[in-house]
Amino acid sequence: MRDLFDKIYKDKGPLGKWADKAEGYFVFPKLEGPISNRMKFQGRDVITWSINDYLGLANKAEIREVDAQAAADYGSAYPMGARMMSGHTDLHEKLQDELAAFVDKEAAYLLNFGYQGMVSTVDALVTKDDIIVYDVDAHACIIDGVRLHQGQRYTYRHNDVESIEKNLIRATKMAEKTGGGILLISEGVFGMRGEQGKLREIVALKEKYNFRLFVDDAHGFGTLGKTGAGTGEEQGVQDQIDVYFATFAKSMASTGAFIAADKEIIDFLKYNLRSQMFAKSLQMQLVIGALKRLDMLRTMPELKDKLWENTNALQNGLRERGFDLGTTQSCVTPVYLKGSIPEAMALVKDLRENHGVFCSIVVYPVIPKGLILLRLIPTASHTQQDIDETLVAFSAIRETLENGTYKRISAAVAAAMGE
Ligand SMILES: Cc1ncc(COP(=O)(O)O)c(C=O)c1O
Repeated sequence: MRDLFDKIYKDKGPLGKWADKAEGYFVFPKLEGPISNRMKFQGRDVITWSINDYLGLANKAEIREVDAQAAADYGSAYPMGARMMSGHTDLHEKLQDELAAFVDKEAAYLLNFGYQGMVSTVDALVTKDDIIVYDVDAHACIIDGVRLHQGQRYTYRHNDVESIEKNLIRATKMAEKTGGGILLISEGVFGMRGEQGKLREIVALKEKYNFRLFVDDAHGFGTLGKTGAGTGEEQGVQDQIDVYFATFAKSMASTGAFIAADKEIIDFLKYNLRSQMFAKSLQMQLVIGALKRLDMLRTMPELKDKLWENTNALQNGLRERGFDLGTTQSCVTPVYLKGSIPEAMALVKDLRENHGVFCSIVVYPVIPKGLILLRLIPTASHTQQDIDETLVAFSAIRETLENGTYKRISAAVAAAMGE
């Protein structure tokens, strides 16, 4: 018989196998100093484009003060226990009420982490007779929620309305057999490529097909819509989103998340969300911090305006220089270049060490072979100078990529990787 760990000793997994070459630099990098537009990486100052602190709240003095005071008042344990048992407070309720009002839903419920919350909301909303229809490029938390589902599921081509309709037809036929209903799940904004989910088109399909729409709006909340209420507000269909989800990990610059829906649905979820029934409640520090952040989202529209001013300056500047930003319709700014993985590694080293620009890098197998995706997240705390320096840096690295320099200097890396 084989030892359980044999496979682990042999194979570290699709990402883990690169650990000895990538760890500490390309993955698990340590950004140091206060969260801001410029931080330190391995002792160098870098312009940071890899943090989802869209509204620049993470290090605002008034936020730090509220966080510190809440920690002083409550410590990090309070309240102990799951919401249902001993982890419920007036402030949890107040935050839920304010979140529900902000996203224009009857009720909301807090989740102690977005990922687990999404997984268990999907799980709670369906029985084995129900059918799930979802985007093939969905975030891992959606995919993992669907993995728990014991009934049928259909994926549609990424953000493709024709494919959505085709799969709704299949799902409707199946649901007629099983006697179940249909849950359609989309993201509000797809975090890797930046497209908005086709919510308006999906909602229009409700006239022909009977389904409920669940939207993960992690990247839309706080960044899109007139008031910042997200992608549904942006596209004028918030009232047609049956279950709305957003995390505190992006615009709110914190930890935690919430779902919002009609009161009856939230009342059901309160008693059926296993991730909240069997796990500790969101700590008071985070609840009080989220109340403060939400207040700033509501009362300081200039933060979102600044975010978009920076987003437009960065995206227009890159486009004017001929960079391919794909199909983004949000602040997420992907830059697609052609090159191999070793070239991508040399390019990122150059970008960080010689140009002082730090952004995320994505390569095969997440995107097709031969493509390099540099992903930039503009925030309200970036400056025009950050943008100007980054544009100059991007032109320089593209030239170095195209004249073959990275290929030459990465030959040793390529050999070491057996490419
Ligand atoms: C689209 C999407 N959904 C859900 C999550 C998970 O949220 P959390 O970080 O709160 O677990 C993320 C990442 O933060 C995300 O990008």
